[in-house]
Parts: sequence; structure tokens; C-alpha cells
Amino acid sequence: MRTQVAIIGAGPAGLMLGRLLDLAGIDNVILERKSADYVLGRIRAGVLEQGSVDLMHRAQVADRLDAEGLVHHGTDLSFDGDRLRIDFTGLVGNHVTVYGQTEVTRDLMEARQGETIYEADDVAVHDFDGQPYVTWSRDGVTHRLDCDYIAGCDGYHGVCRASVPAEALTTFERVYPFGWLGVLVDKPPVAHELIYAHHERGFALCSQRSMTRSRYYVQVPAEEKVESWSDERFWDELRLRLNSETAEALQTGPSIEKSIAPLRSFVAEPLRFGRLFLAGDAAHIVPPTGAKGLNLAMSDVGMLADALIEHYAEASQAGIDTYSQRALARIWKAERFSWWMTSLLHTFPETGRFGRRIQRAEFDYLAGSRAAQEVLAENYVGLPG
Ligand code: APR
Ligand code: PHB
Repeated sequence: MRTQVAIIGAGPAGLMLGRLLDLAGIDNVILERKSADYVLGRIRAGVLEQGSVDLMHRAQVADRLDAEGLVHHGTDLSFDGDRLRIDFTGLVGNHVTVYGQTEVTRDLMEARQGETIYEADDVAVHDFDGQPYVTWSRDGVTHRLDCDYIAGCDGYHGVCRASVPAEALTTFERVYPFGWLGVLVDKPPVAHELIYAHHERGFALCSQRSMTRSRYYVQVPAEEKVESWSDERFWDELRLRLNSETAEALQTGPSIEKSIAPLRSFVAEPLRFGRLFLAGDAAHIVPPTGAKGLNLAMSDVGMLADALIEHYAEASQAGIDTYSQRALARIWKAERFSWWMTSLLHTFPETGRFGRRIQRAEFDYLAGSRAAQEVLAENYVGLPG
């Protein structure tokens, strides 16, 4: 088998890259370790920057997003019960759209024209400094795909970054001593917009997927087990961390999904090794506090697609040569913002009383400063590519 671009991973990054290449007439094959149903069963984030919405339009997969996506003109912060609304539209003239990553993935899967090989075992990438090819096995038979380029869109635990020689890669990492316990429930959201809440007991987030489906999170210690959290315990803990009006308005019900995600900041540099590129979670992880993970994956593959399209159309190396540097410039800004929002809103046992008063001072500063709110708003809605 031969193709122009072999894409490893059928998450949102791999599927969006495949779609953009398909539309440009560039042959590509996606190799995914799991089944399509498994990929669609993962519950992930749900806030799209306008740049991601624009990319969905460019990819001609935005019909459902246009019909069902919820435009949010602001978000709420809560600190020990005190509320502050950040008015994105009023502050920076832009907004975000609430639409689940699962739905983005489904829309891209349905539109897919090129070949996707699911349940590909033992995927391995070879010779990306020369004539690259990919091997995998299915049902005990080994296959080989020769290609011009390999796009590593295989997430944090993928094979592509792991295949780069250690001396060629620099990584930057911060692991937080807590995770987010998330619950999905078929009840209307507690508020029109999201609520990011700081409380002495820990962070909480009220999010949503639609007018009838909500997503809630509470900060838990990193070693916590999801089995220790009955639905009742979750709802009780969430209520404690919200202000009393919100807690009273909360509509609870049986969870339809419950899981714990660890929090991590991570960046690998560079993002290109000969004919291998990294994009999305394969290249970087942000803590979910700023809702940047999916949006960064989208902006990476937007840039990578443009670089490959320019290369095939004009025999140019320029986009390919600068992809890593351009993507990393945007990635680090999103890393900074996600780290900052995480620092403001979570409890950090090791920073003690001084740390909490600094967090309170930061919140009060935000509440009193339009300039500070603009900084938050322009980062949250997404910095220009
Ligand atoms: N071979 C083939 N496929 C693999 C391999 C492998 N060795 N390892 C991982 N994969 C697949 C995974 O099964 C997954 O479907 O790669 C895909 C990577 O998808 P994601 O983890 O969703 O990563 P990405 O597409 O970059 O999307 C980033 O996901 O975690 C969120 O916050 C993050 O929203 C962001 C988005
Ligand atoms: C979510 O809805 O899952 C979500 C929303 C905002 C975030 C993180 C997660 O910052």
C-alpha cells in the first residue's frame, strides 16, 4: 500500500487533518488502534473557539454544529461563593461555542472519504528521516504502508512521539497533584453559561453539552478512585463548592458517565522530525481549566494541513519547515493561560494560607479591572492563529 500522508490516530486531530487533506485531493490513510465506537464513547471537553468553528466550516462538517452548538457570550467565575461574570462579547467582541468533542469527532467520522483502518495493532513508524513507512497488524496479519509523510495525531500515549530518539526531543512538564472527577447527566444545565468555581474544598466546574445534558466536575486528589464516588457523594460535594443559589438550582440525576482525568501541562519540542510531524495531544497537554486541548489540536492540524497543501500544490517546503515553530508559538500561549487559570481556581495544599490569599487577591483584581478581564477573555475565546 502507498499513500501521500499516513495519519496515526483517529481522534479529532487525525480526523480533521484527514478531512482537510481529502478536500485538497491529497491521499491519506488513518490508522487507529481502537474501534470507531470506542473513540466515540470517550467523553472529553466541549468548548470551541471561533477558530475551531471556522475550521469545521472549512472542512464542510459544520451543519450540526451550526444547528446545535450553543453560543456563549461569557462565563462565570465564583470564588468562595462570590460571582464574577466575564463578558467575552462586551470585552473583546468574540464568543465561544459549546459543542462536545464527541460530536466534533462524529461529524468528522461521518464525512470521512479516505480510508480509515480501525483496530490496527502494534502500529510502528519507520525511517522518517528517509523513506517513511508505517507497519501494523490486524487479525494477526502484518501490513505495510509507504508514504511521503507521517502525521502523529495519536494522543499523549501514542507511538509517534515515543519513536523519536530521546536526544532529538525536549519535553517540558508539570504534573498537578489532583485530577477532575467528571459526571455527565441528562438534566438541563444549572446556568446559561459555564461556572468556574474556586472553593476551599477545591475547584468545581458547571458545564454543559446541550439544553438537556450537563457536565460537572470537582477537583479530587490525584490518587482518588472513581469507585469511591457514588452519585450522591458527587452531588453533595459539588453543591458544597458552589454558591448557595446555584447549589439550590442544581438539577441532579443518575450519572451517564463518570471518570477521573489527571491534570498535566506538557509540551514536546520540536514538532517535526524529518518526515514525521506531531499534532494535538501527541505534542502537548494542557490542564482542562481553559478548555484549550481540543482547540489547540484543531489549530495544529489547520497549520499542518496548510503546510502539506502548499507543499503538494507548489512543491514548496516553506510551510513544512516553519510548522513546528509556528504551532509552538501558539501552543505556549495556551499553556500559559491554562496554567494560570488552573493556578487561580484550584486548591494547592502545598501553598497554604498565603497561596489562598494570593488567589483571592487575583480574583478581586479581576473583579475590579477591565484590563484584567480583557486578558482573560481574549485568551479564553482564543488568540489569533
Ligand atoms: N496507534 C494507533 N492509534 C493510536 C495509538 C497507536 N499506537 N495510540 C493512540 N492512538 C489513537 C487513540 O486511540 C486516539 O483515538 O490516537 C487517537 C488520539 O486521539 P486524542 O487522544 O483524542 O487526541 P487528539 O486527536 O490530539 O485530540 C486532542 O483530545 O484529550 C483531548 O483535550 C484533548 O480535546 C483534546 C483532544
Ligand atoms: C467540559 O464541558 O467538559 C469542559 C468545559 C470547560 C472546560 C473544561 C471542560 O474548561
